Amino acid sequence: MGCGGSTGHFGQSFRASGAQIVEEGNKKREVFVIVGVPKESFPGERRVALVPAVIPNLKKVGLEVVVEAGAGVEAGYPDAQYAEKGAKIAPDRKAVFGTADIIAQVLCYGSNDKTGKADLPLMRRDQVLIGFLRPLGSREILQEIAGAGVMSFSVELMPRTTRAQSMDALSSMATACGYKAVLIAADVLPRFYPMLTTAAGTITPARVLILGVGVAGLQAIATARRLGAVVSAYDLRPAVKEQVQSLGARFVELPIEAKNAEDARGYATAQDEAFYAKQRELIGRVVAENDVVITTAVVPGKKAPTLVTAEMVRAMVPGSVIVDLAAERGGNCELTRAEETISVNGVTIIGKINLASTVPYHASSLYARNVTAFLAHLVKDGKLNLNPADEITRETMLTRGGEVVNARVREFFSLPALVAQGGA
Ligand code: NAI
Repeated sequence: MGCGGSTGHFGQSFRASGAQIVEEGNKKREVFVIVGVPKESFPGERRVALVPAVIPNLKKVGLEVVVEAGAGVEAGYPDAQYAEKGAKIAPDRKAVFGTADIIAQVLCYGSNDKTGKADLPLMRRDQVLIGFLRPLGSREILQEIAGAGVMSFSVELMPRTTRAQSMDALSSMATACGYKAVLIAADVLPRFYPMLTTAAGTITPARVLILGVGVAGLQAIATARRLGAVVSAYDLRPAVKEQVQSLGARFVELPIEAKNAEDARGYATAQDEAFYAKQRELIGRVVAENDVVITTAVVPGKKAPTLVTAEMVRAMVPGSVIVDLAAERGGNCELTRAEETISVNGVTIIGKINLASTVPYHASSLYARNVTAFLAHLVKDGKLNLNPADEITRETMLTRGGEVVNARVREFFSLPALVAQGGA
């Protein structure tokens, strides 16, 4: 089916405020807002923003879905499955952007700094954009996105509240990353993970250390435990000790205490250099005792802290593996090179980025559910319903009417506060 389809409702301007009658065979149906799903364009990206299973839920809130031909193929969702659930298939990217009132992407321009810019001319004023936008990344890029006139919502800014939990895409993707980090380490580790008792003797289990125990770290612990490794973990937030232990891992206690380790949003706060220096001194010994080290420590808007130095790497047993999940944010290991796998004195250091894309079927499914919950929050009775008093709407809205409107982001980039951020 081409983009024009038989309904003739494509290529029209933003109509979030009014219904449109769509003919399907002999039936007529009201359609209010069209959600468009372009194929992801970041090199190597295999995820897709919406999967066929969520389309009936979107229809229930008055949303019609248009998917670029082939958008879901690499994640395991062929066009026919979308069509079966009632989505329209558009022939190309331009048709999706030209048709949709809301664009749902995984990596939008901002987080897609390689090819994302090409989407800007396809966007139109007041079109809604939802996805990873890297809101604390580049101010220039944010201003370019604002300049396109789109009303963008950044999933990274989702508040960490119970109400927003079903929309928390960062956690979904972190789950995929933590899981996959353990598997890619297993692939290069010259040892087994589990203890094995064989006729040829007993093999001792691999020792895995997780540094940084957020969502990715917890999933890495669970995965390494399932594979039979002996796992220990460390985080500067003492609150995670119990979670680590409940997963059957040992919590590494260091005799240093972080100041206000956690901010109001549950994220780690940046510490001073004296803290990091002391931390490195104490972590060194622990690192040397492990076969696999998975690092996940990040601080929003800051370069990732260095937890593993070149000296610590040299003290590791040859054959050991480091997977640095913070590679894209500067790395937790001093020697990590983003997007590369290197070997230093027999220690493999993996700096792969975008690991969630390597589990594309389930990463897309989780992301689609997050986006669907978010859309159901933004759309009411078939109309875009933006309530500026609502925390989820207010905190995720990044650009609107040509401006970066998010108060936290403006503050981060030292932009003057806006006088008022009116509603819909
Ligand atoms: P993250 O991806 O921001 O960071 C990973 C981990 O690295 C964090 O646990 C952080 O404390 C740690 N870290 C940072 N600097 C460190 C250092 N120098 N040394 C050691 N560890 C360091 O973390 P994520 O996954 O975003 O989780 C952060 C918190 O938010 C967790 O408590 C998580 O349970 C909570 N959360 C709450 C949600 C909700 O209430 N809806 C949803 C998701 C997460």
